[in-house]
Amino acid sequence: MAKQVLVSGGAGFIGSHVTVELVQAGFDVVVADNFSNCDKTCYEGVCKILGCRPPLVEMDFCDLAAVERLFADYQIDAVIHFAAYKAVGESVAEPILYYKNNLLSFLNLLEVARRKGCNVLFSSSATVYGETDVLPVTEQSPRQPATSPYGNTKQICEDILRDSVKAYPGIKGIALRYFNPIGAHPSALIGELPRGVPNNLVPFITQTAIGKRECLSIFGNDYPTPDGTCQRDYIDIVDLARAHVCAVARMLDGKMEEPYEIYNVGTGRPISVLELVNAFEKVNGVKLNWKYAPRRPGDVTAIWADPTLANEKLGWKATRTVEETLASAWAWEKHLAGE
Ligand code: UD1
Repeated sequence: MAKQVLVSGGAGFIGSHVTVELVQAGFDVVVADNFSNCDKTCYEGVCKILGCRPPLVEMDFCDLAAVERLFADYQIDAVIHFAAYKAVGESVAEPILYYKNNLLSFLNLLEVARRKGCNVLFSSSATVYGETDVLPVTEQSPRQPATSPYGNTKQICEDILRDSVKAYPGIKGIALRYFNPIGAHPSALIGELPRGVPNNLVPFITQTAIGKRECLSIFGNDYPTPDGTCQRDYIDIVDLARAHVCAVARMLDGKMEEPYEIYNVGTGRPISVLELVNAFEKVNGVKLNWKYAPRRPGDVTAIWADPTLANEKLGWKATRTVEETLASAWAWEKHLAGE
């Protein structure tokens, strides 16, 4: 019988891509989402890609009784937890909202998962590494104090998971630290759907290219990097989704070597903002209106992953080129525009 994976926040950007890859790898998936930060577009896209409708439960993980009902209704073998707020700036303005939502939902999920002996995969972020001179970062690189409540919720949830699997031997946990997820499914049926003005670079680029935004600001050209703009490790969303399939298989196949494992999910390849903008223009044959603007507060100069551990232990490797990824992002933006 196929193993059943619960994907909390499964209708969102990463969750929808993970749902597709899990089902295509032979898992059964239950999607749970409260649609607080997404609509049904991506869930419908998932169904179209798969040609079937994974069960969808509309619920809030802050509601413990709802989480209990969910686990009573479905035989869940493993959980991937995405359901959380994710806007850095908003978290600075609304810390209570962020701490309450992101911590309570995770605690509720863990409480029930542990009763059921169900392993948990947590979606963490490279933001936990903060600003560092030693690059690339490995999982052993020290975490820095978080610069936003959002980043702090990632660190706290990692710690909650680490302490819980230590205390409750019936469950194991994996934290995946994502670098910068970008792009869309090659079908252009699912992708990122930012609300309002995008904060992240690639949605801002595609919205500028399509004419929704007038001009892209490149934040800072005086960083100590080869071209003066920040460097990041941009990871294709489908590659990222596949890392979850590998991690879930490792948990369910009893292959974990420690009760709590952490993996960087990145390419190992730094790309500057300027390089990304140039690559986008070149691969898609579009001219982007952009200008240099002052540095954005809170941005780190450069960060990229050492993905060796994920390569070796998860048997996972990023495969798509940044050109393929930027072409998929553009195809998705055009799909949204009805082109
Ligand atoms: C941010 C979050 C990270 C989160 C990630 C999700 C922090 C500090 N950052 O990463 O936690 O996981 O989003 O994808 O918590 N840029 C521009 N112009 C723009 C937008 C961005 O030049 O209009 C630049 C930024 O200065 C940065 C790069 O593009 O150098 C990437 O920015 P962004 O996509 O927002 O991601 P991060 O800030 O790296």
